[in-house]
Amino acid sequence: MKKLEEYVVSIPDFPEEGIIFRDVTSVLQDAEGLQLAVNTMQELVKDLDYDVVAGPESRGFIFGTPIAYNNKKPFVLIRKAGKLPRETVSVSYDLEYGSAVIEMHKDSIQPGQKVLIVDDLIATGGTTEAMVKLVESLGGEVVGIVVLMELAGLKGREKLAGYRLDSAICYQ
Ligand code: PRP
Ligand code: ADE
Repeated sequence: MKKLEEYVVSIPDFPEEGIIFRDVTSVLQDAEGLQLAVNTMQELVKDLDYDVVAGPESRGFIFGTPIAYNNKKPFVLIRKAGKLPRETVSVSYDLEYGSAVIEMHKDSIQPGQKVLIVDDLIATGGTTEAMVKLVESLGGEVVGIVVLMELAGLKGREKLAGYRLDSAICYQ
C-alpha cells in the first residue's frame, strides 16, 4: 500500500511562479488515497472532544464533511463572501497568493461550543487564523485544527500559537 504523501502530486510554479502547488486532487481521485487521507486525519484528532466541525470553501469541505459524518457531528460551512444566504459574520485575510473574505452564518455555532477546524492545507496560516477569528467571534472555542498538508516553511503554525494543530503530511 502506498504512503499518504505518495498520492500528492507537486506542481512547480502554479498558480504563480515560485509556488509549489500541493495538489489534493491527486489524492482524491484514488479510492485508497481518499480513504487514507480521511482516516489519517480523523485518527490524529480522535482524542479530541468537540461539538461541531467547521471547514472552509472549497477544499475544506472535502475533508470536513466526512470527518463530521463519521463522528456524528454537524458540519458548518465557512464560505467566501457573498455565498451564504442568512445573517453572517465575516473577516478578511491574506493567503499564500492573494487575499479573500470568508463568512459564517451567525447561528452556525452557539456560544461555548467546541469546534474542530478542518482544511486540506495550511500555508501562511492566514485562512486558518481568519477561521479561528470567526468561530471565536460567535463565542465558539477552537479545540483543534487538523489539515492534510502543512507547508512548514511558510510558518503558518506560528500564527496559531496556543492552538492545537495536527497535520497528516508536513513539508519542510
Ligand atoms: C487554499 C487551501 C487553504 C488555504 C491555505 O484555499 O485550501 O484553505 O488556501 O492557505 P493559507 O494558509 O496561506 O491561508 P483557497 O483559498 O486557495 O481556496 P480553494 O480551496 O477554493 O482553492
Ligand atoms: N493553498 C495555498 N498554498 C497552496 C499550495 N502551495 N499548494 C496547494 N494549495 C495551496
